[in-house]
Amino acid sequence: MKIKSKLSTIIQKALNNANIETSDIVISDATKPEFGDYQFNGIMKLAKQLRKNPREIASTVIEKIDTTNIIEKVEVAGPGFINIWLSNKWLANEATDILDDPRVGVGFVEKPQKVVVDYSGPNMAKQMHVGHLRSSIIGDTIATLLEFLGNDVIRQNHIGDWGTQFGMLIAYLEEQGADGNQNLKDLEQFYKDAKKRFDESDEFANKAREYVVKIQQGDPHCLELWQKFIDISLQHCEDVYKKLSVKLTRDDVRAESFYNPRLPKVVETLQNRGLLVDSNGAKCVFLDGSDVPVIVQKGDGGYLYATTDLAGLEFRAKDLKANRICYVVDARQGEHFKQVFTIAKKADMVDNSVQLEHIAFGTMMDKSGKPFKTRDGGTVKLIDLLDEAVIRAKETIKQRNTHSQEELDKVANAIGIGAVKYADLSINRESNYLFSWDKMLSFDGNTALYMQYAYARIGSIFRKYDGELKGQIIIDDEIEHRLALIILKFEDTLLKASKEATPHTITSYLYDLVTIFMKFYEQNPILKDDIEPDIKMSRLLLSKLTANVIKKGLDILGIEVVDKI
Ligand code: ARG
Repeated sequence: MKIKSKLSTIIQKALNNANIETSDIVISDATKPEFGDYQFNGIMKLAKQLRKNPREIASTVIEKIDTTNIIEKVEVAGPGFINIWLSNKWLANEATDILDDPRVGVGFVEKPQKVVVDYSGPNMAKQMHVGHLRSSIIGDTIATLLEFLGNDVIRQNHIGDWGTQFGMLIAYLEEQGADGNQNLKDLEQFYKDAKKRFDESDEFANKAREYVVKIQQGDPHCLELWQKFIDISLQHCEDVYKKLSVKLTRDDVRAESFYNPRLPKVVETLQNRGLLVDSNGAKCVFLDGSDVPVIVQKGDGGYLYATTDLAGLEFRAKDLKANRICYVVDARQGEHFKQVFTIAKKADMVDNSVQLEHIAFGTMMDKSGKPFKTRDGGTVKLIDLLDEAVIRAKETIKQRNTHSQEELDKVANAIGIGAVKYADLSINRESNYLFSWDKMLSFDGNTALYMQYAYARIGSIFRKYDGELKGQIIIDDEIEHRLALIILKFEDTLLKASKEATPHTITSYLYDLVTIFMKFYEQNPILKDDIEPDIKMSRLLLSKLTANVIKKGLDILGIEVVDKI
């Protein structure tokens, strides 16, 4: 339900009736229950323009507000706020209406966009590590969310599959013969061994350099080795995606190498637009106000990360016809994206109307605030981390174990992986992220387990109740009012999260929802014998709706629910 837009229409009408001209009315959530459900704070600004007393204007406006349907009560507060309470009857009817709706009241956006979401982007020369975890998790949620709202989403996995290090790697792969495949199981070690060989043997180093040139020239033998290397490396990433239930497939891979044939054209376009400056043989763009150049082609003819991203921007805007392009990449690449976005628009490689966004996220830190490493200082492999999450989840739920072994594995998987994902999604993405097993696997607080537990608990109500589930929601008290209201706020929440690309908007919402539900559940008995049948039914229905929203919300976050914990 788009409650905010309904309320702004009502306020707009009231202002018109009071002969006050204005547009773009912003309705905010009330910050405290005593301020009602929503607030309109725009009167002060209007009063300033009209040189009138804001409280007086507010009083005139509330006289004109239509309170026949949605709104129960309006009040002038403070220097000229308008506090708004919604009607119990309206909330009850709207909530009843969405009982059987698989989208729990969430519509489709009026103007669907074609959105490219660039995420994950691992480098094929190395094992996927925790640095890629955040991009994969956040990116997948944003893509799922945009898609759910009706946009046409194109996932792009911009894998790093090109560069001089591949010469060394394929020379080593070839040298290892049949053992190569086996040794590639541990890419990190493979890279280290290849590097050692490179440093120790001139002959090998020369071959590696020769292979760099040969791949670039399209030598079939070298390309075949390279392709084999990429296939195996990508398979490792896909194992991680599967464990994480991240939806990326091979079809979403559009690697750096894909753009190679387009790179000369990028340079030519920039040249034609008069944006290129020759600096010591390198081709550079100087952006306004900066004396640090963006290099697009080195003196030896080689291209750079930025050149590939420029080709990618043009491809996404012109070939894929995207209206919005989102890059879910580490905050440390902020300057890079600012530069390529500016250049692409200046050079008309991307139309001005296309929204370009760097969806930045912070670094993952350990408990002591240092970048995440293994005990001996190495990089933590993602797959090990996920396995550990599942083992720890099993420990957490073992005590209350009512599961068969098979069930336990399934539940532990949902809880362990859910914990890792939720912990990542629930903080403001731009902050650095402190990784803590204890915190993420807690039954209390803003964790996946808290939501999964609430869902299972509602499930247990329905396992005990075997009657029919049909009737009308009735709102009788304050807590039911708050519960129905937050259920109906689901759509506004998702719209905000999609506009700002902030998954934590959804987790905060779920946390509030479940907290309100728990209070409702404590205060309003559901299955006791002495409750009137229509009240009992209404409470059952509110519980059911809560479960539906939790499930859908977690689904968008890529987290599974379980029936029993
Ligand atoms: N491979 C890059 C890295 O690991 C991330 C790629 C992000 N996407 C992009 N179009 N630049 O840093």
